[in-house]
Amino acid sequence: MKVKLANTHGFCFGVKKAIDCVLELKGNANTLGPLIHNPQFVEELEKKGIKSVDTIEEIDEKTAIIRTHGISDKLIEELKQLNLEIIDLTCPFVKTVQDHAKKLESDGYQVIIVGKKGHPEVEAIKDNLKNGIILNKLEEAESLSQYERIGIVAQTTQKVEHFLKIGDELKKHAKEIKLINTICNATQERQEAALELAHVVDIMVVVGGKNSSNTKQLMTLCETLVETHHIETVDELDKVWFENKEIAGITAGASTPDSIIEEIKNKIELF
Ligand code: F3S
Repeated sequence: MKVKLANTHGFCFGVKKAIDCVLELKGNANTLGPLIHNPQFVEELEKKGIKSVDTIEEIDEKTAIIRTHGISDKLIEELKQLNLEIIDLTCPFVKTVQDHAKKLESDGYQVIIVGKKGHPEVEAIKDNLKNGIILNKLEEAESLSQYERIGIVAQTTQKVEHFLKIGDELKKHAKEIKLINTICNATQERQEAALELAHVVDIMVVVGGKNSSNTKQLMTLCETLVETHHIETVDELDKVWFENKEIAGITAGASTPDSIIEEIKNKIELF
């Protein structure tokens, strides 16, 4: 089987920076939530003494690591109160969304965050606001009340078309709208490269955590064009998928280590 990799795939700038920093750490630490959406890598870190915890109360080391998704200012304050060493690996692009949202609110806008409820990045942006609204579906935008001024930001991994569509709807719900496109380029670049590749192959394999939203979006996009499978590890590959096919394409979410991608590429080439 001939295999082509998407021109841009795998680790994004924010994740790469976070991983490099954590791998250089000497001594034990806790991450607040898994460092990246990749269970195999999180397991590796645990062996190194860097354990993921879900809440501040569970922290049992002297160093706390904030992952790329960021946390609210209130939680950072709580960590400071515990006299922990804090390593803040919030991606600068996520920080920018947080800052825009806070500024919009202080300028009198009703802030709308277009993103997934429950996603840590989105919840942290909202928790910094007095009255932020998270929405992700067009119907949710349609049923929104009327406001004087609405300010809109996006979860960094949103699809641009979706964000703009919601923005168009929200124009009907306020006299003044300020829409700030806070979608990260890394996501867009991976999406464009994946689509480009999906056009010229017989099957796509999307590699990445099953809980990674940017990986799931790559899957959704590719499957509109060609048969697509989302896998986390090489063991999930099924030879049957590749029968009667000549070229396979591979793309990977922003938190997928190169070693996993390489392993999968090598195996598909043998089919
Ligand atoms: Fe940052 Fe974009 Fe990656 S927001 S963590 S560079 S997907």
